[in-house]
Amino acid sequence: MPPAIRFDVLTLFPGIFEGFLSESVLKGALATQKIEIRLHNMRDWAEDKHATMDDRPFGGGPGMLLKVDRVVPAVEAIRYQQEPAGRLLMFTPQGHCFGQAFAEELAAEQRIVMLCGRYEGFDERVAEILKPEEVSIGDYILNGGEVAAMAVIETVMRLIPGVLGDENSHRFDSFSTGNRILDCAHYTRPREYRGFSVPEILLSGNHAEIAKWREENSLQRTKEKRPDLLEPVFSDPTLR
Ligand code: ADE
Repeated sequence: MPPAIRFDVLTLFPGIFEGFLSESVLKGALATQKIEIRLHNMRDWAEDKHATMDDRPFGGGPGMLLKVDRVVPAVEAIRYQQEPAGRLLMFTPQGHCFGQAFAEELAAEQRIVMLCGRYEGFDERVAEILKPEEVSIGDYILNGGEVAAMAVIETVMRLIPGVLGDENSHRFDSFSTGNRILDCAHYTRPREYRGFSVPEILLSGNHAEIAKWREENSLQRTKEKRPDLLEPVFSDPTLR
């Protein structure tokens, strides 16, 4: 069976992904070809001998910008070297905030091409020409899009059938469209540690009571830690 999804990542620093791709669940998903990930060094599209990728902004100001005449040919070459051209994501703090619902949408795609920025960002014409989906992973500034790309890859690949051991486990993840509340508390041995003990009910063997406790605990934790999550659940039943 061919991989369910292929990620193409355009970056100036492919080495950042080395450890990420060679450990744990991702290592397994790549080894069993459930997913495919190709890293592309954008510097390969710099034609001058210094492999220049960035330049100073017109009008002055701090920092350097990724050059439109380097980035656009690189993205086009990668996208059109193979069908389908796929969804094109560009990581920038100005993008739409990434969340579980978008991850679920992306998990249904065959191919996702990701463009990682660096420095002060991209020449604006990169977005004007390529019309990518601009994606942010939160309201803070990273050094570049690589950490954002890793967050998206990891979130999406968990949703691909066969990647996680238990077929159903991701359906109960917090924030998924089937379950927009936080997970309940979990405990393992020892039963008591430094005077802190495991709730009795979890040791009772009464599965119906345990399920009820977990449901109540989830709701309680959500009220305490993330009350904002509960609002759309009650006002919009389609989000449950
Ligand atoms: N590049 C820099 N900061 C970023 C962020 N928060 N999300 C995505 N890409 C970024």
